[in-house]
Amino acid sequence: MAKINAGIVGVGSYLPPRILTNADLEKMVNTSNEWIVSRTGIKERRIADDDVATSDLAVEAAKKAIAAAGLTPRDIEVILLATATPDTIFPSTACVVQDKLKAVNAAAMDVSAACSGFIYGLSIAKGYIASGMYKNILVIGAETLSKITNWKDRGTCVLLGDGAGAAVIRPVPEGKGIISVYLGADGSAGDLLKLPAGGSRLPASHKTVEEGMHYMRMSGNELFKIAVKLMAESAQRALAQCGLTCEDVACLIPHQANIRIINAAAKRLKLPEERIFLNIEKYGNISAASTIIGLDDALREKRIKPGDVVVLVAFGGGLTWGSCVIKW
Ligand code: ACO
Repeated sequence: MAKINAGIVGVGSYLPPRILTNADLEKMVNTSNEWIVSRTGIKERRIADDDVATSDLAVEAAKKAIAAAGLTPRDIEVILLATATPDTIFPSTACVVQDKLKAVNAAAMDVSAACSGFIYGLSIAKGYIASGMYKNILVIGAETLSKITNWKDRGTCVLLGDGAGAAVIRPVPEGKGIISVYLGADGSAGDLLKLPAGGSRLPASHKTVEEGMHYMRMSGNELFKIAVKLMAESAQRALAQCGLTCEDVACLIPHQANIRIINAAAKRLKLPEERIFLNIEKYGNISAASTIIGLDDALREKRIKPGDVVVLVAFGGGLTWGSCVIKW
C-alpha cells in the first residue's frame, strides 16, 4: 500500500483583544519594561477576559482554519486540542470545541504536552492519515495561561499570554507536507515547571488555594539552559531524519518562550536571524498555541512560499520537546 503523506492545508489563529503592556505590569509587580524586554524580548501580551475560557479562543481559531482549508465543521473527523489550560479536567476542551463548532462527525480529545502540545498533536494527525484511518483532522493549540498565573509573582507573570491557533491536516501529494517529526520527554525533570494542585495527587482545597498551588510554578533559570540544548537538538534530529540540514531551512518557527533562548538555539543551529520567525514581542509565551500562531503569522507576513522547508520546534513542561519539518 502506498504511503499517505499528511500536510497542513489551512491555518488560523485568534488572540483576545485585551493587551497587557510592560508598563501595565510595572504597576502590578516590582518589575520594569527594561528588565522584561532585555531578559525576555516581550513588550506586550494578550489576556482573555474573565468570562472567556480556552475553548472560546480555540473555536475562533478553528473556524478560520476550517474555512481556509475550504471545508465545513461537518467534514472534520478528529479534533486534537493541545492545551495546558483546559476549560475543565473533563470533559475535554476538544469535546467542548466539537460541540461549539457543531463538528458532529468528529471524535475529539485533548493532548497534554504543555508547550510542545501542538507538535505532539501534529504527530498524531500525521499517524492517523498515514494509516488511512482519517482524512480531515483539526489540530488546535489553545491556552488561557492568564488563568493559572500568579499575578504577584514577577518571575512568571511577565512571561505568559493567551491565544489559540489551529490547523487542518489532510492527505497531500508525495514530497509535500509533514516530512519528519521528532518527539522527546523527560518526566524526571517535571518539577521544574508545574501546576502543583487540582489533580489527583493534590486535590483542590482551602489549603492549596491559600498557598497558591493552583498557579503555575517555574524554575526559569534551570529550564533556560535545558531549553536551548533541546530546541537545537530536536530541530537537528527532525531534519536529519529526512536527510536535510539547517542550510535547507527557509523558516524556523520556534516556541516563543524567551528571545534569548531562541537566539542561543539559533546560534547552535547556525541559522541566520532572517530565517527565524519571531512574534514573542507582541504575544509572550502562549505555550501550546505558540508555534501554530507563529506559523499563521509567518504565512500572513509572506515569510513562507511553496516548496520552502519550514521547521516548528518547541520545548515545555513535562518535560516535553519536539520538532517537525514541513515541506510547504
Ligand atoms: N522583573 C525584574 N526582576 C526580575 C523579574 C522581573 N519580572 N523576574 C525575576 N527578576 C529578578 C530575579 O529575582 C533575580 O534577582 P536576584 O538576582 O536579586 O535574585 C534576577 O532578576 C535574575 O533572575 P533570573 O531568574 O536568574 O533571571 P533570568 O535571566 O534567568 O530570566 C526567565 C528569568 C525570563 C524566567 C528565564 O530564566 C527564562 O525565560 N527561562 C525559561 C522559561 C521557559 O522556557 N520555560 C519553559 C517553557 S514555558 C511553558 O511551558 C508554559
